[in-house]
Amino acid sequence: MSKLFSELTVGGVTFKNRAWVSPMCQYSAVEGVIQDWHAVHYGSLITGGAGLVMVEASAVSAEGRISPRCAGIWTDQQAQVWAEIPRFAQRFGVKTGIQLAHAGRKASTNVPWDKPGSVAPSAGGWQTIAPSAIAFDGYAAPREMTLDEIEELKRSLKECPVPAVILNMHNEAAKGLGEKK
Ligand SMILES: Cc1cc2nc3c(=O)[nH]c(=O)nc-3n(C[C@H](O)[C@H](O)[C@H](O)COP(=O)(O)O)c2cc1C
Repeated sequence: MSKLFSELTVGGVTFKNRAWVSPMCQYSAVEGVIQDWHAVHYGSLITGGAGLVMVEASAVSAEGRISPRCAGIWTDQQAQVWAEIPRFAQRFGVKTGIQLAHAGRKASTNVPWDKPGSVAPSAGGWQTIAPSAIAFDGYAAPREMTLDEIEELKRSLKECPVPAVILNMHNEAAKGLGEKK
């Protein structure tokens, strides 16, 4: 018999099956805050019975978003809205995870259904930053980050409000994630 629908324990976290949902950007957030679109999207994946729903790449700073419509988790408000997803998932025994992200030189892009390339600062985009000032093909050149900015980004990844969300939801999977911080 296939093992797909059997439990799996990884790092002390038990998943009810092995059908897991990859993170998928929805390009539907407003100022990094997820919306009713996300409630329906993730709600349907959760009620669909996946063992793990990994939510989309979520920027730990405003300039780390892939596009102006990407989700974030750099403010407490963003984190509190995100927290509704694991709260709902818990009722169905579904584990959730979040992909913390910084898009670097691939940030400030148009949403994929619009057109390729960068969104200019004058049109709601921003000056991107990256470890070097080398552009990704077809995108605006980033500014090279200072060493302080790299340290600050490391801090943002480590200290973004995910643990606060986790503490609120008493979720076995999330507790594991919190401990790894
Ligand atoms: C609409 C869409 C959005 C995606 N967003 C992300 C993302 O936020 N983070 C990520 O690591 N991968 C992202 N991906 C890649 C997927 O998570 C996945 O790795 C990819 O679709 C390959 O999976 P597969 O081999 O099962 O098809 C995205 C893919 C799609 C189709």
